[in-house]
Amino acid sequence: MREPWVVGVSGASGTPYAKAVLTGLLDAGEAVDLVISRAARLTILDETGATVRDAHWKDDVGAWLGRDLGDLTYWPAGDLAAGPSSGSYPARGMVVVPASTAACAGIAIGLSKDLLQRAAEVNLKERRRTVIVPRETPVTRSHLEHLIALHDAGAVVLPASPGFYGSGAQATAQQLIDFIAGKALDAMGVEHTLLTRWKGELNAQRNPLGGP
Ligand SMILES: Cc1cc2nc3c(=O)[nH]c(=O)nc-3n(C[C@H](O)[C@H](O)[C@H](O)COP(=O)(O)O)c2cc1C
Repeated sequence: MREPWVVGVSGASGTPYAKAVLTGLLDAGEAVDLVISRAARLTILDETGATVRDAHWKDDVGAWLGRDLGDLTYWPAGDLAAGPSSGSYPARGMVVVPASTAACAGIAIGLSKDLLQRAAEVNLKERRRTVIVPRETPVTRSHLEHLIALHDAGAVVLPASPGFYGSGAQATAQQLIDFIAGKALDAMGVEHTLLTRWKGELNAQRNPLGGP
């Protein structure tokens, strides 16, 4: 039985995090069900120049990711009858990356205003692994309260807050992106080589180009 990871991309800045997580999942041979919110089309366009159209998703998502799509299925965000909208649809879990404050709020209160929010709520109620990668700064009390609600509902809240210990102070943007993607994949239990793991040694020799 096909048991995909649902990947929700919402309209926060940080679409390279989504690309790195998707790449990591596909590299690991995982099946993926992708949902891109309407606002995320704007951030993808703004940050990469790529357009994502429901009717042309294979071409558009392929161009955005710059690779073959493996076992990737795309569901339009407005399709509330899509597979991931039901708990009886098989799924290993879900990652929302990046997660806007609006998506965090909607998932936390069960708003289900689109497929992304509904699928996340379904994963939480089915007690499946759910990883939320919020991207906003600074934050209000209400943002924090929504993150606590998500935590209490069983989600791993994994802020897009990269550490520099793996790659050092000269880390490239890609290394910092991969750090967050790697931590998200760790939380999902998916193997990867995206980050350099701490070895218990200060000032260890670092590969300036990163990688394992
Ligand atoms: C270019 C751009 C960047 C944005 N960056 C963020 C951000 O970093 N964090 C955030 O919470 N919202 C951000 N927003 C606002 C969200 O897109 C907006 O709240 C939207 O309603 C989120 O909808 P969604 O959760 O359905 O994707 C940004 C919007 C645009 C157009």
